[in-house]
Amino acid sequence: MINNNCLLCNDAKCTRACGVMDPARILRSLYFDNEEVVANYLDDDVACNYCDERCRDACPVKVNIRDIVTGIKKPEKKYEIDYECLRSEFCGLPLENPFLLSSSVISSTYDMCARAFEAGWGGAAFKTICLMDINEASPRFSAIKGDNQRIIGFKNIEQLSDHALVENLEIFRRLKDNYPDKFLLVSIMGRNDEEWAYLADVLNDSGADALELNFSCPNMTEGETGSDVGQIPELVEHYCRIVKQHTRLPFIAKLTPNVTDITESADAAIRGGADGVAAINTIKSLIEVSIDRDEEVIYASIGGYSGKAVKPIALRFITELAKDRNLQDKHISAMGGIETWRDALEFIVLGADTIQVTTAVMLYGYRIIDDIKDGVALCLKKNNIPHITDMEKITTDKIIPTDSLDRSYIIYPKFLRDKCVGCQRCYISCMDGGHQAISIVEDRPVLDPKKCVGCHLCVLVCPQNAIISSGIKVPKKR
Ligand SMILES: Cc1cc2nc3c(=O)[nH]c(=O)nc-3n(C[C@H](O)[C@H](O)[C@H](O)COP(=O)(O)O)c2cc1C
Repeated sequence: MINNNCLLCNDAKCTRACGVMDPARILRSLYFDNEEVVANYLDDDVACNYCDERCRDACPVKVNIRDIVTGIKKPEKKYEIDYECLRSEFCGLPLENPFLLSSSVISSTYDMCARAFEAGWGGAAFKTICLMDINEASPRFSAIKGDNQRIIGFKNIEQLSDHALVENLEIFRRLKDNYPDKFLLVSIMGRNDEEWAYLADVLNDSGADALELNFSCPNMTEGETGSDVGQIPELVEHYCRIVKQHTRLPFIAKLTPNVTDITESADAAIRGGADGVAAINTIKSLIEVSIDRDEEVIYASIGGYSGKAVKPIALRFITELAKDRNLQDKHISAMGGIETWRDALEFIVLGADTIQVTTAVMLYGYRIIDDIKDGVALCLKKNNIPHITDMEKITTDKIIPTDSLDRSYIIYPKFLRDKCVGCQRCYISCMDGGHQAISIVEDRPVLDPKKCVGCHLCVLVCPQNAIISSGIKVPKKR
C-alpha cells in the first residue's frame, strides 16, 4: 500500500474537481495494493503533469494527489485486461467470477444484493434465514483499529435475518429473475430436524442456486444452534443428512473456527451428503468491556471476530481443509479477512474454489470488487495463466512444517539511510523485545551483526519502511 492519507471518500471531491481522470479510483486502487493495475491503465504522459492541482484543493485532507500519481512506476509492458479469465464454477454451476458476498448484513436485502451484483460481484451468500424471532442488540459492532484509524479487527454480535421467511423468499425470486447470471447461495439455520427439513424444502424452487448451512454463528442464543452445532461433528452430519433428504440443490456446510480440528466437522458434513464446505465464520471473542466502575458493564458478551486480523487464522483452516482427503473433489469456499486481490489469490492457491467477503465490504463498500477483479485478472495475464481455475495450488508438501525449516542461516535487516527519520522505534523494539543489536549513533540506528539474530522485528516496527530484509542468507556460526 502506498502511504497516503486518502479518506476513500464516496462521490469524491477530487474526482469531481479533476474532470480528466478519476483520482479517487486511483488512490483507492493504491490503498488496495493495486499499483500495477493503476500503472497499467495510466496514460504515459499523465494529465497531472499539466494541471493546477484542483484535486488537491478539493480534497478535505489535502492529499498530494499529483505527486502520488506522477510517482507511480511505469510498467515495462501494458496488458489488455478482461474478466473472462475469472469464470469459475460452484459445484458444477457457472459463476461469472468466484467472488461472493458472504452471508451477513451486506447481503440482507434485495436492494443490497442488486447493488453488489451491479458492482461486479459474482454472487452472494444471502444473510442466514431462519424460523426464529430475531431481535438484535444496539449497538452491535466494535473494532480494533491500527494506524490511520484503519480497522483491522471487527467484532459483532449480530444474529440472523430478521425478515419474515415469505419476505426473503420473495427477494430470492426477484433476485433470480432480474439477475439470472448471478449466483444466489442461500444460508439457512434451523433449531431442530423439522426446521432444517422445512427450510430445505421451501428453498427448492425459490430461485436459490445452492444452500449454505450455517453451523457456525457464534452469536446465537436459542438452544443448540450456530457454532454450538458446528463444534459437534455428529450434529453436523445429522443436519446435513436431513437437508440432503429434502433438497434438490447443491449445499455446503459453513464451519466454525472455534474448534481444534476443523476437518472433523468437515468430514462429518461430507458423510452427511454436503457438496463442500465454507470457512471461516467469525471467531468467538469478547465484544467490549467497560472498566469504568461507575458504568454498567456494557457488551461484555461473546461475539464474533472478523476482518483483516483473522486472515492468518482463516488461511490455516483453509490449508487444513484443502489437504483433507475427504474434500479432494468437494467445493471449498473461503473467507476471513479478505480485502484485496492478493488476499483472494492467497486463498485460491491454498485450495479455495470461491472467495467470500463481509467485513471489508462493511468498511469500504461493494466497490472493493473493482480492485479484487482487476488485480487478479492482471496477475493471471502477467503470468500467462489463462484462467483462475488454472492457478497452481500450493500442495501440502510446499507448506514447510516448523520442524523442517532451514535454521542454518541469518538474514540481516538492511537500513535505508535516506528514508530513516531517526525515530528510534527500531532501537526500542530491539532493546526490549529483541537482542539489543541496535545502537544509536548520531541519531541513526546502527546494527551489531554479532548480536543480531535476524528476527526482523525492526523491519516490522519501522513506521517509515526504512528497514527492509537484506535477502541474503548468511550461514550461522555455531
Ligand atoms: C456483522 C456480521 C454479520 C454476520 N452474519 C452472518 C450470518 O448471518 N451468517 C453467516 O453464516 N455468517 C455471518 N457472518 C460471518 C461472515 O459471513 C464471515 O464468515 C466472517 O465475517 C469472516 O469473513 P470477513 O473477515 O470477510 O468478514 C457475519 C459477519 C459479520 C461481521
